[in-house]
Amino acid sequence: MSPPPSTDYSKVKQDLDHQAPGAIAAMFGRVACRYDLMNHIMGGGLDLYWRWRLVQAVRKQRPGRVLDIATGSGDVLLALERHHAYTGCAIGADFCLPMLQQAQAKRARNLLVGDGLGLPFADASFDAITISWGLRNFVDRLAGLREMRRVLRPGGRAYVLEFSHPAAWLAPLYFWYLRKIMPLYAQFITPERGAYEYLGDSIHAFPSQPELAALMREAGFAQASWTNLSLGIAALHIAEV
Ligand SMILES: C[S@@+](CC[C@H](N)C(=O)[O-])C[C@H]1O[C@@H](n2cnc3c(N)ncnc32)[C@H](O)[C@@H]1O
Repeated sequence: MSPPPSTDYSKVKQDLDHQAPGAIAAMFGRVACRYDLMNHIMGGGLDLYWRWRLVQAVRKQRPGRVLDIATGSGDVLLALERHHAYTGCAIGADFCLPMLQQAQAKRARNLLVGDGLGLPFADASFDAITISWGLRNFVDRLAGLREMRRVLRPGGRAYVLEFSHPAAWLAPLYFWYLRKIMPLYAQFITPERGAYEYLGDSIHAFPSQPELAALMREAGFAQASWTNLSLGIAALHIAEV
């Protein structure tokens, strides 16, 4: 009997390092069925709190139409509905069908297969856009932010929740944990160790809080500010058109 095929992690990592969009969608496709479990274990439940902060920020504005880009397994979309954060409707878009199927299984509605770099919506279609742990995976973040601005109406807001750069004293320990420890125990829950090596690297390479705010302004947003969450491990950026 031949041995079971094993994943070539170095190949997975190479593709992801070069940010091939197909490789990113395929990677999320492979982790989709364990995605929620991994999130809650790795984040120690903090991910729930961070999403809650995002939803509360949107709720303050009470927008009419909301688009959740890179909606994945739908947790933000569902929380927006549960907390009555909008008055009209909310749509969730993602380019990875297996992730959307997870969202569908959780009874998320208004799901759409779509690429954040080319949204199938007219200019000024939405009052608010949310994106949590999505922008980091975009092959062209500036283009993704420009696309968000395009589909937002004047005065509309983008809410970007992402892992960020923690306080200086915490950073060495945190990045060591992400790079060395997390992929080790991720492999016991998911076969995709490469995906979690990619996670650590991509967080390290992601713009710092002021850099992301500057990128949002470069994309055409009039204002961009941020709130650090959990010592800056995550940050919520809010930008207005
Ligand atoms: C880490 S998951 C985040 C899912 C969800 N927002 C959450 O809070 O758990 C990242 C998601 O971004 C999606 N994604 C990455 N790049 C994308 C793009 N260019 N367009 C649409 N979705 C994208 C992936 O398919 C994946 O579902």
